[in-house]
Amino acid sequence: MKKINQVLLLIVVAVATVLSSCTKEGPQGPPGADGTNGLDGTNGIDGTSGCITCHTNDTDLAMKTTQFKKSLHYTGGAEHVGYANYAGGSCSMCHSHNGFMQAVEDGTNSGGLHPEAAAMSCYTCHEIHTSYTREDYGMHYTDAVNFYLNENDNGVFTGLEVDATSQYSDPEGMSNTCIKCHQPRHRGTTQPDPSLDGTIVISDGAAAHWGPHYGAQGAIFGGVGGYIGTTDPTAPSGTKGHHSCKSCHMSFNSLTGNYGSYVGGHSMNMSGSDGEPVFTACDECHTDRGATIDLPGKMASNKILIDALHADLLGLQIIDADGHLLGGTWTHKQLSAYWNYALVKNDHSYGIHNEQYTQDLINAARTYLGTN
Ligand code: HEC
Ligand code: HEC
Ligand code: HEC
Ligand code: HEC
Ligand code: HEC
Ligand code: HEC
Repeated sequence: MKKINQVLLLIVVAVATVLSSCTKEGPQGPPGADGTNGLDGTNGIDGTSGCITCHTNDTDLAMKTTQFKKSLHYTGGAEHVGYANYAGGSCSMCHSHNGFMQAVEDGTNSGGLHPEAAAMSCYTCHEIHTSYTREDYGMHYTDAVNFYLNENDNGVFTGLEVDATSQYSDPEGMSNTCIKCHQPRHRGTTQPDPSLDGTIVISDGAAAHWGPHYGAQGAIFGGVGGYIGTTDPTAPSGTKGHHSCKSCHMSFNSLTGNYGSYVGGHSMNMSGSDGEPVFTACDECHTDRGATIDLPGKMASNKILIDALHADLLGLQIIDADGHLLGGTWTHKQLSAYWNYALVKNDHSYGIHNEQYTQDLINAARTYLGTN
């Protein structure tokens, strides 16, 4: 073995010597023409300079996250995210992150089916991790909201649209993000029209779920989605709430008790642990600057009107004591009166979202019932 290696080495050295002695170097040729310039690459993200506009040591992100975790968006969101894969995809827009993103992308009110889905998070409202700059706190959705009610199968509502952009309180149209989900939902062929005679039969089974699904706030705020009068009863009312959703629901940034009850900020709660709305942040304008509006008084007086409508409907045996519709054969006007009642009841603000419209809906309902 050793011998073979030595022989091989001798051959290699001999060949190398012959080759090198044969090669002669000529003079260097002229330089070649410059190559064409390459295309600029896309700019990279500058290290972490974008990230640290949000991920800093100021705990802002941590505070917003803590507030959010005290919201029904977070707790209810986790509880109801199963609706992302339910009822043919008709719940997912409002009850899951994935459904909301799909509806926004497709420009519809349908979130589609998502066998795997996340509940609402920072990523649902904000454009987090899109440009990796602070601009990502912008909203995914700021356009006017074309209402789900326009899809009712017998065409009673058409062209309902709410744009909550306000040059004073919400120039970016952030409230439209809220309204995209906080809008009523109703499908099927039982939508009443108070300008019509005749009746609609609602079975006992259908009655319990009949009416505008929760989320009436966007409709009341925008002054659409209920019935007023009998000529063109579904026309938009023309009244609108003046503040933006965030100017009331996010304007407080305080903990209100020692038991983890949050108001305002990303909890979006208006009420403390006692269930009473907190109006201290409103006082700056509404009492300190001349007591323009008595907010608790306003809610109390509107509650009396809603209770009166409840009593009328109960007296006519259209609803049960809890305010749910009973099965039966109802006239268009009776069913419209119940619809208006459900809308103002599910709004939960007792006129604060839009007092004029709330009162007009109640008056119209009582006129339909003949109890006014
Ligand atoms: C607009 C503000 C903003 C910017 C800019 C930003 N982030 Fe985030 N980041 C967030 C928010 C909000 C969350 C979610 C926090 C939560 O879920 O509680 C998050 C979450 C994260 C997480 C946790 C995992 C996850 O995806 O939820 C990591 C890791 C992260 N960011 C890294 C980065 C890096 C790296 C950059 C820069 C390249 C960056 N972020 C830029 C706001 C930002
Ligand atoms: C992706 C849909 C979606 C968006 C966007 C959204 N919400 Fe909600 N919101 C919901 C749902 C669904 C609930 C009920 C959660 C549950 O019980 O599962 C809710 C609950 C709430 C509640 C608590 C209601 C109660 O009964 O206590 C408030 C207040 C609220 N939202 C305000 C807002 C505001 C203000 C905005 C805009 C900044 C907003 N929401 C944006 C879907 C949404
Ligand atoms: C257009 C948006 C939207 C759609 C679609 C929608 N919901 Fe909701 N839903 C809401 C909002 C907003 C709330 C909370 C309203 C409030 O608290 O005032 C809510 C509340 C609920 C609640 C009450 C939660 C509680 O804590 O009491 C249930 C249950 C529910 N939805 C089930 C469904 C189901 C089932 C579907 C599909 C068949 C559906 N929703 C479709 C917006 C929607
Ligand atoms: C339901 C929609 C919604 C969700 C979910 C949400 N935000 Fe927001 N966020 C808003 C709105 C609306 C504003 C604007 C508030 C204002 O202008 O006063 C805002 C503002 C902010 C700001 C201030 C932005 C700025 O320009 O200074 C931060 C920070 C923030 N959110 C962080 C978060 C984090 C972190 C999460 C998740 C834990 C989150 N948000 C989830 C709606 C939402
Ligand atoms: C002028 C102030 C104001 C504005 C603007 C406002 N809200 Fe409210 N909202 C209230 C008050 C007050 C209540 C009653 C709260 C209570 O009783 O806990 C309420 C109740 C609600 C509730 C039911 C909460 C519950 O505990 O049942 C939801 C959901 C809601 N608002 C969403 C919205 C949305 C979405 C917008 C924008 C379209 C909006 N609000 C605009 C003041 C406001
Ligand atoms: C920066 C000043 C300011 C603050 C803070 C403020 N408001 Fe207002 N609010 C106004 C002005 C201005 C009007 C219009 C008054 C008018 O038309 O006479 C108004 C009108 C209203 C109305 C009448 C209905 C409507 O939408 O126009 C209600 C209800 C209302 N505010 C509730 C609240 C609540 C609840 C808060 C606290 C969460 C609040 N406001 C905080 C300035 C403010």
